[in-house]
Amino acid sequence: MLVSGQLSIGGWTASLCLLASVSTLFTPAVSVKEHDFKKCDQSGFCKRNRAFADQVIATSSWQSPYNVQSDSRSFKDGQLHATILKTINDNGDTVRLPITVSFLQSGVARVTVDEEKRQKKEIELRNDSKARKERYNEAEQWVIVGGLALDTEAQVAYEDKSQITVKYGPSSAFEAAIKFAPFGIEFKRDGKTQIRFNDRGLLNMEHWRPKIEQPEPEKQEGEGEASEDEKKEEEPKEAEKKVEAPKGEDQSTWWDESFGTNTDTKPRGPESVALDISFVGFEHVFGIPSHAGPLSLKETRGGSGNYDEPYRMYNADVFEYILDSPMTLYGSIPFMQAHRKDSSVGVFWLNAAETWVDITKAKDSKNPLALGIGAKTSTHTHWISESGLLDVFVFLGPRPQDITQKYGELTGTTAMPQEFAIGYHQCRWNYVSDEDVKDVDRKMDKFKIPYDVIWLDIEYTDEKKYFTWDSHTFPDPISMGKQLDSHGRKLVTIIDPHIKNVDNYPVVTELKEGGHGAMNKDGNLFEGWCWPGSSHWIDAFSPAAREWWKSLFKYDRFKGTMENTWVWNDMNEPSVFNGPETTMPKDNLHHGNWEHRDVHNLNGMTFHNATHHALVSRKTGELRRPFVLTRSFFAGSQRIGAMWTGDNQAAWDHLHASIPMVLSQGIAGFPFSGADVGGFFGNPEKDLQTRWYQAGAFYPFFRGHAHIDARRREPYLAGEPYTSIITAALRLRYSLLPSWYTAFYRAHVDGSPIVKPMFYTHPGEEAGLAVDDQFFVGDTGLLVKPVTEEGKESVDVWVPDDEVYYDYFAYDVVVAGGAKGKRVTVAAPLDKIPVLMRGGHVFARRDVPRRSSALMRWDDYTLVVSVGKEGKVGKAEGELYVDDGDSFEFEQGQYVHRRFVFDAAEGSIVSVDAAEDKDKGVKEGEWMKKMHGVGVDKIIVVGAPASWAGKKEVEVESEGRKWKAALEYTAAEKGGKGRAAFAVVKKVRARIGADWRVVV
Ligand code: NOJ
Repeated sequence: MLVSGQLSIGGWTASLCLLASVSTLFTPAVSVKEHDFKKCDQSGFCKRNRAFADQVIATSSWQSPYNVQSDSRSFKDGQLHATILKTINDNGDTVRLPITVSFLQSGVARVTVDEEKRQKKEIELRNDSKARKERYNEAEQWVIVGGLALDTEAQVAYEDKSQITVKYGPSSAFEAAIKFAPFGIEFKRDGKTQIRFNDRGLLNMEHWRPKIEQPEPEKQEGEGEASEDEKKEEEPKEAEKKVEAPKGEDQSTWWDESFGTNTDTKPRGPESVALDISFVGFEHVFGIPSHAGPLSLKETRGGSGNYDEPYRMYNADVFEYILDSPMTLYGSIPFMQAHRKDSSVGVFWLNAAETWVDITKAKDSKNPLALGIGAKTSTHTHWISESGLLDVFVFLGPRPQDITQKYGELTGTTAMPQEFAIGYHQCRWNYVSDEDVKDVDRKMDKFKIPYDVIWLDIEYTDEKKYFTWDSHTFPDPISMGKQLDSHGRKLVTIIDPHIKNVDNYPVVTELKEGGHGAMNKDGNLFEGWCWPGSSHWIDAFSPAAREWWKSLFKYDRFKGTMENTWVWNDMNEPSVFNGPETTMPKDNLHHGNWEHRDVHNLNGMTFHNATHHALVSRKTGELRRPFVLTRSFFAGSQRIGAMWTGDNQAAWDHLHASIPMVLSQGIAGFPFSGADVGGFFGNPEKDLQTRWYQAGAFYPFFRGHAHIDARRREPYLAGEPYTSIITAALRLRYSLLPSWYTAFYRAHVDGSPIVKPMFYTHPGEEAGLAVDDQFFVGDTGLLVKPVTEEGKESVDVWVPDDEVYYDYFAYDVVVAGGAKGKRVTVAAPLDKIPVLMRGGHVFARRDVPRRSSALMRWDDYTLVVSVGKEGKVGKAEGELYVDDGDSFEFEQGQYVHRRFVFDAAEGSIVSVDAAEDKDKGVKEGEWMKKMHGVGVDKIIVVGAPASWAGKKEVEVESEGRKWKAALEYTAAEKGGKGRAAFAVVKKVRARIGADWRVVV
């Protein structure tokens, strides 16, 4: 929550002046108010499940009370149905929990457990609640978009009274052994155990039970009412204690639960769902973003260097978040991968309620002989969600790409972005007027700094009423939009989900009259506080509300917007300043009367989705890919737009932390991510700002942003040498846009990350599994290690293989091959970004610097070949994908997709069509026709064969013609240890979309 913003409610000018005068005096040491957010022991269900785990682990004779009723099982068409009986007391009473294990054609297995009594709605709710009685079962409708076809080839390999084993997956190499008593599942690949469910006996589905209300004890004379806090502290009443609680279970958090001034009425009582998932022989687990910590997740049960809190996923407005922490942030993706040398597996915990994950690692305890040298470490995880179904997808790999691809089939892949969206975005809170925007736009041009988008934060509105403009400061937004458009630039305006509760504001009137708002626990319109003061929140779970939302974005409704206006969705966790943990009360109700508790982590995605669809339907016939940035997200948000990592700080350690955060997003299926460049809060020193631009040039989403208190810091204000260095970083980004766009295409096609950590590209290298400060860009072979430490003038790059690596800028041979696992020091004075080219790749760029990506659209390409260690006989390969960067016509085949192959032995470079599945009969559209005029300008071959020395020209062959092009060869320095030999083929003049062959 941004306190200064609250001051601005009465008008930004006054608060700006006040804040500016305060902020210039000092830069406060800041960090999140941790006590505003729950720790595990303040979140009843987390505390209960952790205590349960402690009790179980301390009890050597412990037996999980969950048993599959052996004769309940049936297996048909790739699906196993059965009933688990949970024994709930010493009398042997049980609760029925239907379980389904689905074996999917993709080789993924899905385990779903529900509660029969709640399926049948045979429960009573407390406090006359209108909430739904079932466990939340609609997460799938929001998250899963495919991949659910059942594997009808899956077969029961073995069964008896105690277990059933199913073989499934590719060549039946996967196996799920479901044990009945106690219930547990062992997943194997090629006969080797990879994952175990309930191996430690921590499965816990808190079944519904009634609260035995006690008559109020008669008051003694003089006795006052108990305060809320006192009530909370009260011991559970005797009768409640008798209700089916396992021995020692803490019931104090079963019912009403308070945090701060809020009391959650919990009409269904305790209903958590928890399970232990063991990754057998895996030392590293990754994923479950967003957290500000290392890529390889830490242990969470204390001990040196470990956390003592579980990783939390409960989307929240965590202003000035702290680093190296398992604390929740703005978005959650409950998808985890485990890796060991040459093996990757994963789980996706489909649950949108508040979720905690404990992680511990241990040497294989099942086999005492294996302890000691050579013993494998296993990672044990304990997943705990407050409500909903137990619904887990299991991925058995074996490669990291298999995991991300299958996860992408289920939850969708990154939407193909607008091309401008991968350029540079210039943002701050706030550009204060349309003249201000125009002025920044002109200055960027004056200093020849490329950028694509300028952003407007909340102050552009008339008193935080979205879909309006402050008429004093933004009297003419259209002329502003047109100036931007004249150079192909765009405007992004912020639209938040809270709608100001004020008279004479049609948007709020429509929200109220249409019943489009989220409701409080009594079913009345929920009211809370955010930037505008008193507000209501759109309930984007409601189809009618989404239809209404669409109407608000039509050009004739949101006046002042035009075709180059796009949208930023912020505060959609949702942020509610006066709500518990700065969000909505959990007993609020959404469409269908689902409690907010059940859907909290989906909330941001539903709002983001509503805006996405609104932008698609702004004008009939205008079919363009929408651009919407979101702060809050869930699994599946990748299909909708981009995210950023929220309110970071202008500090070196925040720059450093941004790299693993962005990498983590990528491997969790949502790679279109970036951090606020420069740091949101505070004023970066010049070298920090410069280094941040250099790192940001390699974030998939590249945006400079600053808090309202921060000094202006557009790149041209930095002064020399900083402005020139920042400009060089921006130009580097722009020249590499073709390769970035190709990497986005890959992510769109198969769910792969856009920037890739070492474990992903080199899963066989144990020592690189935890490396999280360097990465490859797509498949370009560009290995980047941004400088993230103050005063550092060099970096140590971990070399993942025996390939040759060249310096990107100077073509020096940094590693001549054979240095696998070593660290090499790369010089990185302030004006240098450590970028290496791995041998064996070809990538595309555009070398003429221009003002925006749109202005580069018809420029010719440069291809860069980096010759691999096989030198004379080696090959190098790469690809280029390009489309109109705007419409959906690529789905109809309007795109160019080329594969380039360099063959040193033949001395040739060829371009072949990579669009194998493209319908050759595609009718050429406008864009395709214009692409006929776009060609290959030059080809640079780094590490060119020495045999090329003395050659002056090459032969180009394409489209039935042959011609010559000039070749310039430069010999290697220092016998191959300094700058590599390189050759430049000039004015190639072959069409980028055509087949061609260049022979030296
Ligand atoms: C919070 C966002 O995280 C930040 O980026 C934005 O500037 C402020 N809200 C104001 O809208």
